[in-house]
Amino acid sequence: GLKIATIGGGSSYTPELVEGFIKRYDELPIRELWLVDIEAGKEKMEIVGNLAKRMIEKAGLPIDVHLTLDRRAALKDADFVTTQFRVGLLEARAKDERIPLKYGVLGQETNGPGGLFKGLRTIPVILDICKDMEELCPNAWLINFTNPAGMVTEAVLRYSNIKKVVGLCNVPIGIEMGIAKLLDVDHSRIRIDFAGLNHMVYGLDVYVDGVSVREEVIEKLTDPANSSFVKNIEGIGWEPEFIKSLGVLTCPYHMYYYKTRQMLEKDLKNADGEGTRAEVVQKLETELFELYKDPNLAIKPPQLEKRGGAYYSDAAVRLITSIYTDKRDIQPVNTMNNGAIASIPADSAVEISCVITKDGPKPIAIGDLPVPVRGLVQQIKSFERIGAEAAVTGDYNTAVLAMTINPLSPSDTIAKQIVDEMMEAHKEHLPQF
Ligand code: NAD
Ligand code: G6P
Ligand code: MN
Repeated sequence: GLKIATIGGGSSYTPELVEGFIKRYDELPIRELWLVDIEAGKEKMEIVGNLAKRMIEKAGLPIDVHLTLDRRAALKDADFVTTQFRVGLLEARAKDERIPLKYGVLGQETNGPGGLFKGLRTIPVILDICKDMEELCPNAWLINFTNPAGMVTEAVLRYSNIKKVVGLCNVPIGIEMGIAKLLDVDHSRIRIDFAGLNHMVYGLDVYVDGVSVREEVIEKLTDPANSSFVKNIEGIGWEPEFIKSLGVLTCPYHMYYYKTRQMLEKDLKNADGEGTRAEVVQKLETELFELYKDPNLAIKPPQLEKRGGAYYSDAAVRLITSIYTDKRDIQPVNTMNNGAIASIPADSAVEISCVITKDGPKPIAIGDLPVPVRGLVQQIKSFERIGAEAAVTGDYNTAVLAMTINPLSPSDTIAKQIVDEMMEAHKEHLPQF
């Protein structure tokens, strides 16, 4: 049987993952699931861990659930390590979202200054986990869900000895599900050729039963109601002239780049009203954990669907299953480019449709990205790379550089001011600076 170690086990997404393991138990015979957290997340882990135990018991499966603060015990001889942790918890995310707004810059979990600072806090921890893995489970696969997943995967590829790493995001599967619903067909009939970066991924074509429906789908993206596929971003629709001539499917995060001013205005209004997304999520999380505490609850409660990470379990468990069974089906994941996208360095992480084998994801080469999107993707890749370098070296100038070259940054001076204020606000989680 298999051993899975889940770091950040106290996450409210854990029941999502457990539901996935239960559904695919026939193909993926897990014997041990180890949830790992830190002191600050101990209570959350106990609540969610007990729910996981009830779910597994109800399903009648022989999976042992262990709850621990001892990461090394959890990693020892693990077959798959999944990561879903948040350094500094939602309190840190709320700062990432509020501080940039004061400077007229987007405040968001994975984009702009928030994305950079989440990376600076997270990368030292993931590299530490990689060191432990080298020693304790050198053959394990690391399935990273921790954001910013693109920058984090880039850092693991560049700065650790762990080669068996896959970055995972629910956006591509969310787009597939959303389009299936728009077209009123079953999800299994949809295929999308994805290529780009995490939260910067494009659908180069989309098919139903192998026949392209790209133009019909692009047309639908002009309707605000159809323009986002995740709960954390409210879609505001695309200008038909723009989206039709772009000619590829966008992801919801593209609205921050192509509709920057409207998105900022909307977020400024929200910050004054219901609060930033982290503040909304803090309330949601409190409600969720109240539900999780109920000793009669033994399923994933539907309220979890208000979170942005919907379909996480499908994405994570189908990936692990396909690696374990050498299934060779196609899934969009973050992996080393290896020449699949010509204008991105071969040794960088990309998010792309891959054939999933026992030796990991094999990206399906696309040649190159269309001219109108190529430059932005390259710029974001440079940002992720310089951001990862700043996280590893702790070099202040490199952090200012990363912030300045981000397309959401209005000037080097403002970038530096934001870096200064955020460094101060997050200093307990930035020991490298
Ligand atoms: P959360 O705030 O509930 O944090 C999860 C747990 O991580 C907490 O219990 C916390 O105590 C723990 N933690 C913090 N530092 C840790 C450390 N050093 N070692 C071990 N555990 C640690 O977070 P969440 O909202 O459940 O999200 C978890 C992560 O998943 C975040 O990084 C988030 O951005 C990411 N996420 C990714 C996607 C995606 O598409 N890739 C989607 C949703 C969420
Ligand atoms: C999305 C993304 C994640 C993101 C999350 C936010 O769909 O793919 O990478 O972090 O949802 O969700 P939340 O509910 O925490 O705002
Ligand atoms: Mn994501």
